[in-house]
Amino acid sequence: MKILAFESTCDETAVAVVENGRTILADQVFSQAKLHAVYGGVVPEIASRSHVEAISLLTERALKEAGISRSDIDAVAVAYAPGLIGAVLVGVNFAKAVASVLQVPLIPVHHIRGHIAANYLAFQELEPPFVCLAISGGNTLIADVRDYTDMSILGATRDDAAGECFDKTARVLGLPYPGGKPIDELSQGGDDRKYEFPVAHVEGRPYDMSFSGLKTAVINLAHHAEQTGKPLDRAALAASFTRAVSESLVPRAMHAVRELGYGKLVVAGGVAANSRIRKDFQQAAEAEGVTLFIPPLRLCGDNAAMIGAQGYYEYLAGIRAGSDLNAYAGMDLSQNYRRESNG
Ligand code: KG4
Repeated sequence: MKILAFESTCDETAVAVVENGRTILADQVFSQAKLHAVYGGVVPEIASRSHVEAISLLTERALKEAGISRSDIDAVAVAYAPGLIGAVLVGVNFAKAVASVLQVPLIPVHHIRGHIAANYLAFQELEPPFVCLAISGGNTLIADVRDYTDMSILGATRDDAAGECFDKTARVLGLPYPGGKPIDELSQGGDDRKYEFPVAHVEGRPYDMSFSGLKTAVINLAHHAEQTGKPLDRAALAASFTRAVSESLVPRAMHAVRELGYGKLVVAGGVAANSRIRKDFQQAAEAEGVTLFIPPLRLCGDNAAMIGAQGYYEYLAGIRAGSDLNAYAGMDLSQNYRRESNG
C-alpha cells in the first residue's frame, strides 16, 4: 500500500511516499530555517506562506522520486495536530484536495505519533509495546506505546520543550536558529562539569520534566558574565547545559522502561539528534540490558515519511477523515481521531 504523506506543522514543508508503513519511496523536505533565522525563532505567518509556496512542487518531486504516478497512490496521510495552526492548515487543506481528486482515503496523523513511527522506518524489527521519549522543538514527553494506535502519556514537560531550551540557550550565546546543532557542535571538547545547572524534579510525578529553570540559569550566567566582564567558557557552558538536559531525560526514560517491563526504549524527535544525549542513552541502555532505538539523524527532525509510516497503521486501525478534517494546535497523543461530522 502506497501512502502519499504531508507534514507542515512547523517550519519544514515535507512530502513523502511510504510503502506499507516501513519503506520510504520518496522523502522530500524543504526546511524554512533560513527564513526564520533572522528572527531567532519561527514566525507563524512566514511559515504558513512558505508552506503554500513549496507544497505543490514538493509533491511533484516526491512522485518523481518514487517513480510512480498519481494513480498509484492508495491513500493520503497528513499531520493534522499539534502545531502552528496556520501552518498545519496548509498541509491539511492540500491533503484534503489531493485525496478528493484521487478518490483515495484521507488519514489524519498526530505529529508526535509520526515522530515515534520514524523508528518503524529505521528499524524493520521494531514493534510495540515499548516506552518512547519524544523530544522535539515543541514537545517533550514519555509515552507508553502499547500498540501502533494505542498509547498514553506517562509524563511530560511542565513548561518548555527540550528543543526550545536548546534554541533559547543558543540565542543567548549568539548562535543561529535552530540552536540544537550549533550547541551540539560548540559543546564538543567542552568541560561538562565546569558549570552546575539545575535539573528539576516534579514532586510525585516521576516522569514529568521542567526546563524553564535551566533556561533561566543559562541566561543569568551569560548576563552575569557580560555585566562583570568575566570570560565565559562557551564550550563548557554548551557541554554543561547539554549534560543537564541529558540528566533530565535519560534517568526518567530508563525508569519508565524498568517500571513497564517492555525492555525496549524508543527515542524520537529533533533533539534525539544530539550526540551527547544519544551517547548517554546508549550507555544507560547497555548497562540495563534495554534494547534502544534512536533513528538516524535524517529521521529525527520533521519529515513526511514518518507521517506516512504512522498513517499506514492508523489506516489499518480503521482511522479515516472526511472533507471536514480540521487542523488543531494542540491534541493529546493518546486520542484517536474521531470525525466530528459526516463530511
Ligand atoms: O522534531 P523537530 O525537527 O521539530 C519539532 O517537531 O519540533 O525538532 C526541532 C528541534 C529544535 O529545537 C532543534 O534545535 C533541535 O530539535 N535539534 C537539536 C539537535 N538537532 C536539532 N537539539 C539538540 N542537539 C541537536 N543536535
